[in-house]
Amino acid sequence: MFFLQDNVKITKNIVQMQMRLSPMIKIRVPATTANLGPGFDCLGIALNLYNYFTIEKIEEGLEAVLVDQSSGNILDLPLENNLFIQAMDELLQRTGRKIDGIRITEEINIPFARGLGSSASAVVAGLVAANCLTGEPFQEEELIEMAVDIEGHPDNVVPAFKGGFIINVISRNGLCYKKLELGDDLKFVVLIPDFELKTNAVRQALPEKIGYADAVFNISRAALLTASLYTRDYKQMRTAMEDRLHQDYRSRLIPGFFQVMEAAYEAGALGVALSGSGPSMIAVAEDNMDEIGRAMVETFKEHEIKASYLVKTTDNQGCRIVN
Ligand code: HSE
Repeated sequence: MFFLQDNVKITKNIVQMQMRLSPMIKIRVPATTANLGPGFDCLGIALNLYNYFTIEKIEEGLEAVLVDQSSGNILDLPLENNLFIQAMDELLQRTGRKIDGIRITEEINIPFARGLGSSASAVVAGLVAANCLTGEPFQEEELIEMAVDIEGHPDNVVPAFKGGFIINVISRNGLCYKKLELGDDLKFVVLIPDFELKTNAVRQALPEKIGYADAVFNISRAALLTASLYTRDYKQMRTAMEDRLHQDYRSRLIPGFFQVMEAAYEAGALGVALSGSGPSMIAVAEDNMDEIGRAMVETFKEHEIKASYLVKTTDNQGCRIVN
């Protein structure tokens, strides 16, 4: 049951909508790549690939339309699965406020369930939108904690909110994090296979316990990766992006994963990892990005997986209100 309104409907007439209405608020949220190899559940980077969420005033009710920007198609997502609305709803419940008479348009550039932070983008935008429309009862840090509670993965949520490279720690006092801005010298070849993996399902593939050797393997590399990004010295990125906590297990769900990784290295990648819980992969590079992307796509093809690639850089701004 939604707190916002009972009589919800999905509108399909987006053209008419754009002619008639002026936006109350438009929010831009970046995609994210989490884990980065060794930083399972704690490291993440925001990428300059964005979803846009526009809220317009209508007479009454709640309407939502999702547009896949790559195809122009309207996506048929049931409202009860709409994370933007769930996040708005959560904030409204905490304030005891109601909002009536809004239309939400979600322009989707971040593909669903590919390990690129599409859920985090919707949750962050929903909270920021509801906060703005109710006179900003919450501070930014409170919104970030709320977003982590709802979405569950700080390594996606915090970079989506703040941009940059983020190191998250869940401490006895709750979430704490450090942000480091990265330069445009570092490029990300984002390899997107044409199948989905849901994070919750993929977490089932992980063992319940790990050994000391694997823990040390990852701690040392997460520290090396952080230092490499901080000093902008990428010579040891291949070692720095190795992992023993999740990729071996999850790769079983991604045909050709290690061969694709090897192809990226042969084409000049500095470091390669699974993006979030996958199935997308991320190759870090300073040059040869198209060669790397093509090599990865070709190698996936040999394993009968269709894939495409994008070349991106870091978004250092995070979530922004753009109107
Ligand atoms: N750290 C999370 C995981 C990210 O790997 O499950 C989810 O995108």
